[in-house]
Amino acid sequence: MNPVFCAVDTPDLAGAEKLIDSLQGHVGGIKLGLEFFMAHGMAGYSVIAIKGLPIFLDVKLHDIPNTVAGAVASLLPLRPAFMTIHASGGAAMMRAAAEAAAKAGAERPKLLAVTVLTSLDGGDLADVGQDADTLRQVVRLAKLAQASGMDGCICSPEEIPALRAALGKDFILMVPGIRPDWAAANDQKRAMTPRQACDAGATYLVIGRPITKAQDPAQAAQRIESELA
Ligand code: C5P
Repeated sequence: MNPVFCAVDTPDLAGAEKLIDSLQGHVGGIKLGLEFFMAHGMAGYSVIAIKGLPIFLDVKLHDIPNTVAGAVASLLPLRPAFMTIHASGGAAMMRAAAEAAAKAGAERPKLLAVTVLTSLDGGDLADVGQDADTLRQVVRLAKLAQASGMDGCICSPEEIPALRAALGKDFILMVPGIRPDWAAANDQKRAMTPRQACDAGATYLVIGRPITKAQDPAQAAQRIESELA
């Protein structure tokens, strides 16, 4: 299976549709985030879902357990393949989310934990009373997520080795911060190529601009596909 989820970070529904049509057969799925979902909601989601690619709905839920469980239940009819939950919301919140998702049976979305946002450095973590050693905090939250019923977590490429060692081979690692060596780095500072990330132990890759901003997105996706083959 193609491990690439293309990040469609746009509030432009028609543009997203056109892009996804061109990527059919060349990516494993589509990541829709808050920018898209806030603009278009369930109706817009359904326009994309009908195209048949698995969808990673990156909503980063974080609230009291009852509310997060309710939010997961409300999203189940959309049948996303993956959804995100903030691990810092705690064990009870993640367990409540997992129980809510389980109600969809075999069709249940896989739940991925967000550990430490890569926009935060050690100083930011200290400011909110967390361990300023970011990798230690990432591993700690990922272990808590695994023990609380999450199927995997989002992580940066450089976190893959520590997380694979701590969590075993079956825990899903969904990895953004990926740049083919022919693509612009943009604002990604410590990117790996698709091949490097997969070799390091990534389960899935999230790739946005190297595909979406390419002159020919389908060709860019195909090139990544062939580099991973
Ligand atoms: O365009 P690019 O490939 O950088 O897009 C990466 C996607 O992954 C974006 O949707 C971005 O928000 C997301 N992401 C990230 N780094 C993280 C978590 C999520 O780039 N640590």
